[in-house]
Amino acid sequence: MEEEKILDVEQLDTDTLEETLRPQSLNEYVGQEDIKANLKVFIEAAKMREEALDHVLLYGPPGLGKTTLAHIIANELGSNIKTASGPSLEKSGDLAAVLSTIEPGDVLFIDEIHRMPKFVEEILYPAMEDFELDIIIGADGKSRSIKIDLPPFTLVGATTRAGDLSSPLRDRFGIVCKLNYYKDDELKQIVKRTGRVLDMEIEDLAALEIAKRCRKTPRVANRLFKRVRDFALVEGDGKIDYEITVDSLKRLQVDEFGLDRIDIEYLTALISKFNGGPVGVETIATAIGEEVTTIEDVVEPFLLQEGFIKRTQRGRVAEEKAYKHLKVARQGTLF
Ligand SMILES: Nc1ncnc2c1ncn2[C@@H]1O[C@H](COP(=O)(O)OP(=O)(O)OP(=O)(O)O)[C@@H](O)[C@H]1O
Ligand SMILES: [Mg+2]
Repeated sequence: MEEEKILDVEQLDTDTLEETLRPQSLNEYVGQEDIKANLKVFIEAAKMREEALDHVLLYGPPGLGKTTLAHIIANELGSNIKTASGPSLEKSGDLAAVLSTIEPGDVLFIDEIHRMPKFVEEILYPAMEDFELDIIIGADGKSRSIKIDLPPFTLVGATTRAGDLSSPLRDRFGIVCKLNYYKDDELKQIVKRTGRVLDMEIEDLAALEIAKRCRKTPRVANRLFKRVRDFALVEGDGKIDYEITVDSLKRLQVDEFGLDRIDIEYLTALISKFNGGPVGVETIATAIGEEVTTIEDVVEPFLLQEGFIKRTQRGRVAEEKAYKHLKVARQGTLF
């Protein structure tokens, strides 16, 4: 089972070291250069004015560093961070409870903000815009609405689906950042850093090999690093070199492009069941038994970016690269 999940971009129970591995400052955070440069200016300006930083929306596929960046923003501001997640804010009282603990300049981080119920979202509007909390107390005929002033704070929202946010919510974020897939040399730096943090050096070439096979995702890179480290410890001489890395990745059945099981099922269905398309996303989702949202948020962004598929008006179409890749996979040893 481990093999199947090692490339999973979603956070797993086995990702126990994520907290330790999170960089703490913008300078330690690798890549996303444009976002970092802008945030540096906005944070500096907010500090100079002694005001709360404008609300920040972070969006992009899982595992690219949204949660990490939210914590870094709080660190760089020198503020406390309070965290909540969209699905956990079930009642208006849940949000009111979090908001009532906020101190001036704090960061309120709401993960998966697109999954917040609509009526909870509506309480957030005046809180974001005027730092006011409108709540209804009492019940039935005796209920009344009261306004509570909140201290100025910064809402940091994270989502894999910016398109699912209502426009009134989206419009209330002054700073919107789209996180992109990482470049190989950035992922290599992340892996090298992980090696330093976990006190297990990794050769440059070995780090680059992990970088190439991690679906351009830091979370997956770190997970591969940890497994390779196990092989090096038990079967190697304790050092992570190129040979042990390639050998471990082969044994973990990690694809040379870092495609995971769902990616391969998607491409296989697209090519063999639907003749390479065009075919609608719902049809592919049904064929491989996955949610449309998973396909759209997790699988397709990477396949599009890497040129395995393209989107047309009539549906998804497999590109040459997908055919080539699957042919290798069919004859080869990996699948
Ligand atoms: N820019 C980066 N530099 C170094 N390490 C990073 C970077 N981005 C992410 N990581 C590492 O990857 C792991 C996953 O990142 P994080 O949890 O922030 O992703 P996420 O975008 O919040 O994912 P999800 O959408 O699943 O919540 C972190 O524990 C961190 O160690
Ligand atoms: Mg997260």
